Amino acid sequence: MRVLGIETSCDETAAAVVTEGGDVLSDVVRSQVALHAPYGGVVPEVAARDHARAVVPVVREALSRAGVAAADLDGVAVTSRPGLAGALLVGLQAAKGLAWAAGKPLVGVDHLVGHLLAVFLRRGGAPAQEERPSFPYVALLASGGHTAIYRVDGPSLGAIRELGATRDDAAGEAFDKVAKLLGLGYPGGPVVDRLAATGDPAAASEAVPAVMARKESLEFSFSGIKSAVARHVARRGRPEGQALHDLCAAFQGAVVDALVQKTVRAARVEGVERVVLAGGVAANRGLRARMAAACERRGLALFVPPFASCTDNGAMIAYAGALRLAAGERDALDLAPETRTALPRVTRKGGGAR
Ligand code: KG4
Ligand code: ZN
Repeated sequence: MRVLGIETSCDETAAAVVTEGGDVLSDVVRSQVALHAPYGGVVPEVAARDHARAVVPVVREALSRAGVAAADLDGVAVTSRPGLAGALLVGLQAAKGLAWAAGKPLVGVDHLVGHLLAVFLRRGGAPAQEERPSFPYVALLASGGHTAIYRVDGPSLGAIRELGATRDDAAGEAFDKVAKLLGLGYPGGPVVDRLAATGDPAAASEAVPAVMARKESLEFSFSGIKSAVARHVARRGRPEGQALHDLCAAFQGAVVDALVQKTVRAARVEGVERVVLAGGVAANRGLRARMAAACERRGLALFVPPFASCTDNGAMIAYAGALRLAAGERDALDLAPETRTALPRVTRKGGGAR
């Protein structure tokens, strides 16, 4: 089976052709980062308009790199939720038009399910069996828009359960906001990651409180640590040189500690031996290193997809869609965008005891 996947939920216009075995035949990602950078974050209307400009060329490129025509496809998968309504609408309209014109089935995919299954993608014929987990696994999904821990018992919506999520900012959003405060540009994660590598977290520990909540909680909160950095900068001005590296290291260390401790705790509570990382923040070197060490200590097997599979891409959407198609599922041409995920959520946004 060869399935085209289209992703326009946020600030990447992406399309890919993937088999139901997860082989990536093409994967085209066109980032809008430069467009949004002057605003320090994604501007929804700007995103939707740029998707409208880019979606047809990106889809053409994905088909051509895979060497398939629309007529050769077995279906068209598209992110239908969650995301920015106007942005989702562009991908949906493109997918519907193509599915209708080529007479192919259409399936909507929940973007979060795409991220959670991205670990199964095989790129460039990588030898892969041992790099792919079996079910069940516990997955940490940390991106600019979402941060939550899931138990994944299978690929369908009903087999995926949220165990805990952030009460406020997503982890990537915290990186982006702190980078903005420090004048480091957008997106902030990669820059903070780089500076943190040569910083001493202990040297800036008074600026950054620990973000740990109740011991047994699987929920996150990152807004307090962001505010602490803001207060520090308001008092002392923007740090420079080594002090900047130290502050980045302390901030990143606090975020990574929370992500690692709660993910490992979730695996223990669920009695699951496999841990998967997903989302753009999984690119963070501090997170990768500390998660690897923590899993090793507890005898957990850790699966970290390559960077291209962690950040937003069309391949994960095509793959999740291929599994839906293989299960005989279809969506009608009136499929509508939804801003929220279809996965049941256990964490309520906002304050209160954690
Ligand atoms: O998954 P993604 O590409 O897009 C969505 O948000 O869905 O994730 C982007 C987020 C941004 O907030 C970015 O700052 C963060 O992932 N990020 C990182 C790193 N690379 C990207 N955060 C920390 N360390 C990194 N190396
Ligand atoms: Zn995403």
